[in-house]
Amino acid sequence: MILAPSILSADFGNLERELHALEEAGLTWVHFDVMDGCFVPNITFGPPVIKRLRKSSGLFFDVHLMIAAPERFLEAFAEAGADMLVVHVEAAGHLDRTLREIKSMGMKAGAALNPSTPVYALENVIPLLDLALIMSVNPGFGGQSFIPGSLGKVRALRAMLREPGGQALIEVDGGVDPENTPDLINAGAEVLVSGSAFFNRPPYGRRLQDFMKAASAPRPDAQRYPGGFQN
Ligand code: DX5
Ligand code: ZN
Repeated sequence: MILAPSILSADFGNLERELHALEEAGLTWVHFDVMDGCFVPNITFGPPVIKRLRKSSGLFFDVHLMIAAPERFLEAFAEAGADMLVVHVEAAGHLDRTLREIKSMGMKAGAALNPSTPVYALENVIPLLDLALIMSVNPGFGGQSFIPGSLGKVRALRAMLREPGGQALIEVDGGVDPENTPDLINAGAEVLVSGSAFFNRPPYGRRLQDFMKAASAPRPDAQRYPGGFQN
């Protein structure tokens, strides 16, 4: 299991220090929630912040674009140092082309589904996906409650990705904590995003262990998805 802390719940006044602390605590990914106040009712940060943090962090930058028409900013985030861009199927008018463009810029490509969007919205782009993100809250804010129906979506997506060419990682984002981690892992999730349940419970090293312990329950297909990109 990969844990990707969402810096939306971190100390915005000390982001560089926070990212160093994540690295020291053993985290390998960090989740950046980019919000434009249009696709979601909140505004956070853009490429300049990511570019500045890129200078002093070796973490995998998982950039979640909760913005309208994300195709306008692929170049800017690539230049800022994003390792992966995750665009919302509800916002990307030409998802197939946008995923291909992200990959052509050398980044991993992901697609995100809001709670009301069915998993089959991805069925025609499966071979293009490095990651599929299931929102388990309505996007825009941290600290919300997990939507229980998300578990069924993870199972449905896992089944869909068993098709040939389905190598994408499954990421779940919103209201994730050590209590619902076992169910999420057993449903087939491989990357868990946590904002408030992680940053509100320092020290980060011990909090990471809480999540890893919760994720350690054996899974029928654990041997197939050891975590991490397969290609
Ligand atoms: C919500 C963001 C999530 C959020 C997770 O729109 O995409 O990444 O920050 O925060 P928690 O874990 O507090 O729900
Ligand atoms: Zn997110």
